Amino acid sequence: MMRSLLILAAILCLFGACDNKQELKKKKYIAEGMVLYRNHCQNCHQTNGTGFEKLIPPLTDTLYLRLNRDRLACIIRYGMDEAITINGQVYNQPMVPNEKLTDMEIAEILTYITNAFGNSQEMFTIREVRLALQSCGEAGVESEAGIESNAGIQP
Ligand code: HEC
Repeated sequence: MMRSLLILAAILCLFGACDNKQELKKKKYIAEGMVLYRNHCQNCHQTNGTGFEKLIPPLTDTLYLRLNRDRLACIIRYGMDEAITINGQVYNQPMVPNEKLTDMEIAEILTYITNAFGNSQEMFTIREVRLALQSCGEAGVESEAGIESNAGIQP
């Protein structure tokens, strides 16, 4: 009896069932986020997050996503319209808003993009997304002096 329980536990571990709760939640967010990414983002940012020529910035740049972690939720919901520099390339096309995505969906998409394409960050909780969204509101994301960008810095 004991022995078969141990074997069962070992088998479940193979399928990831012995991960802690947070890890499981993160995996779920990544899986859901990937589907949402395909529907809402991939057209522009491409399957592998490479972006498109000089028009669409890449999501493969760990540094930009890390430095701007607390702005990402606002960028997704309200879009973005400012010149940014990633890997020495200036991008200055507006990004469309995604006002229909819920806070939960934004958390899932952000957990996906910050753990795909060579990125590796902590998961985004709904709470973190809500806190971040308080800093933008209906007016959208405006350029503000003092916001860090990685202009000119190579990762
Ligand atoms: C219509 C094309 C388009 C779609 C769809 C789109 N984006 Fe963007 N995205 C852009 C452009 C263009 C920029 C640069 C905006 C600027 O310079 O102001 C950008 C910027 C970004 C940035 C900040 C810069 C960077 O590369 O890290 C992030 C993060 C981002 N988009 C994520 C997403 C996610 C996630 C989705 C799906 C919910 C999405 N985008 C959908 C075109 C798009």
